[in-house]
Amino acid sequence: MFTEVLVALVIGGLIYFLVQRSRTQVLKTKDGWWGCGAQPAADEDVTIRPFKVTTSDEELEDLYRRIDQTRPVPSLEDSQFNYGFNSQYLQKVVSYWRNDFDWRRQVDKLNQYPHFKTKIEGIDVHYIHVKPKKVPEGTSPIPLIMVHGWPGSFYEFYGLIPLLTEPSNPNDLVFELVCPSIPGYGFSDAPHKKGFNSVCAARIFHKLMKRLGFQQFYAHGGDWGYLVTTNMAQLEPKIVKGLHVNFAPPAKPGLVMMSSIMLGRRFPQLFGFTDMDIERLYPCMQKLVVHSIRETGYMHIQATKPDTAGRGLNDSPVGLATYILEKFSTWTNSDFRNLEDGGLTRKFSLDDLLTNVMIYWTSGCIISSMRFYKENFSNGLNEPHATMPVYVPTGYACFPNELMHTPKLWVQQKYHNLVTFTPMARGGHFAAMEEPQLMAEDIQKFIKLVEKKKK
Ligand SMILES: *[C@@H]1O[C@H](CO)[C@@H](O)[C@H](O)[C@H]1NC(C)=O
Repeated sequence: MFTEVLVALVIGGLIYFLVQRSRTQVLKTKDGWWGCGAQPAADEDVTIRPFKVTTSDEELEDLYRRIDQTRPVPSLEDSQFNYGFNSQYLQKVVSYWRNDFDWRRQVDKLNQYPHFKTKIEGIDVHYIHVKPKKVPEGTSPIPLIMVHGWPGSFYEFYGLIPLLTEPSNPNDLVFELVCPSIPGYGFSDAPHKKGFNSVCAARIFHKLMKRLGFQQFYAHGGDWGYLVTTNMAQLEPKIVKGLHVNFAPPAKPGLVMMSSIMLGRRFPQLFGFTDMDIERLYPCMQKLVVHSIRETGYMHIQATKPDTAGRGLNDSPVGLATYILEKFSTWTNSDFRNLEDGGLTRKFSLDDLLTNVMIYWTSGCIISSMRFYKENFSNGLNEPHATMPVYVPTGYACFPNELMHTPKLWVQQKYHNLVTFTPMARGGHFAAMEEPQLMAEDIQKFIKLVEKKKK
């Protein structure tokens, strides 16, 4: 009897020790400096400067001259979007861009929210900061940082912003939003030194939020934004009150994941797999291999020689639009590859798509945006954050046309405090832009639950 008690105590103690240890696991990081040349001895200028997007006749004349000099190459007959962006449809997009798209009007639209820049770790960080006009009496707005990915920008959130800052339902929470540009993207400076990865972006955004006076806040992200906000939760779990993501590719397949892949089809209940999980996880092996070879070439290029591949894109607006907008077609719905027009305007307007392209064009950021892939792989796959769980309350919005399907069980392997997992009715990879209403509803649902638990 005594030995049994002793054994139980030892085991219990061990579990307690392990749990306690894992509970206090926090990602460590060191300050960086990304400016040109050597770091100056003087303290950094921490002022926050208002910023406005601007344009000029010269900028537009240069753009039009380059567009007019494009050299169309006819697509193969009957190839739709299967060989990449269809050339015949591209000519229509280009003609719209050249003759009907009104960049000056879009610049005004971009400036409808207040933009700012501030220097952090030697580079200017750009963001929009949207405060709600009205807040119900006795409450304060809920701070939320929303982080974009590639090849997107802060503009992806323009449809979502009013839904979160001026919700029509009086029972909804009212948000105060910060949407930054990842350094190297849009109007944020590009780092001048090697090694700027998702953890560096996360650290810089924490510094930004601190500078803005937020003691605690929520975070939302898709694409790279999911990884940056996940790293933010790992760096400062007491400051990030909750994390909402719509992308969560499995970082490192562990034992649970592997066995669920092998046995999940035969014993779905064992792993909580739904019909959708089975349908999305088990296409035949051949299909899976072909699909991943077909759709991941861009990643290999960007993770190896971004400066080579990017240079042509930075010289040619048509080349840039082709490269970026192909993703908006295929990543919204892979079946769109079989449509002559890539289905682009089924979900987006050409005005919105070209505005995102113009953010890349006018800032000249395509190469620096591609480098983020290189830095993601530069230290191999053994970054501490990749194997570290997230303890912050998490909400996952599972969109049916997302690039990779992640069943609830797999999300829980990484996010240990998964508060909501919502199978969404419609939408793909650019969900915030494609389905802002659905995204707003899920963010509301998740944060209401976390706020309630806190009380
Ligand atoms: C690179 O990105 C993948 C996919 O988002 C992520 O799982 C992985 O942890 C990242 N690796 C590093 C070293 O940051």
